[in-house]
Amino acid sequence: AYVVTENCIRCKYMDCVSVCPVDCFHEGESMLVIDPDVCIDCGVCTPECPADAIRPDVDDGMRGWAVFNAKYASAWRSISSKGLPPDDAPAWDGAQGKLQAAFG
Ligand code: SF4
Ligand code: F3S
Repeated sequence: AYVVTENCIRCKYMDCVSVCPVDCFHEGESMLVIDPDVCIDCGVCTPECPADAIRPDVDDGMRGWAVFNAKYASAWRSISSKGLPPDDAPAWDGAQGKLQAAFG
């Protein structure tokens, strides 16, 4: 499966939702995650993300994000159409410590 990672937090552009053929994104307050049981590994969402936040879970360092995505995909509601990103999304692109600030 593919996973959404830290730079999605407070950027939440949601372009990924528009292209996913199987609607496997789930929405939290500050970010989205991918349901690993539904993702078909097509990879089309990765280049669509303006924050470059989506990776294959087989990449180095993605183990923790795989657990995170699976956990919150179960908890958060499914989303199938793109909503409005936060007004200050560009200001948060690349900011450090977003995971700790939002989920710590
Ligand atoms: Fe959806 Fe494909 Fe991205 Fe998986 S890899 S979340 S199926 S667009
Ligand atoms: Fe997040 Fe990128 Fe989608 S910022 S909501 S993973 S387009």
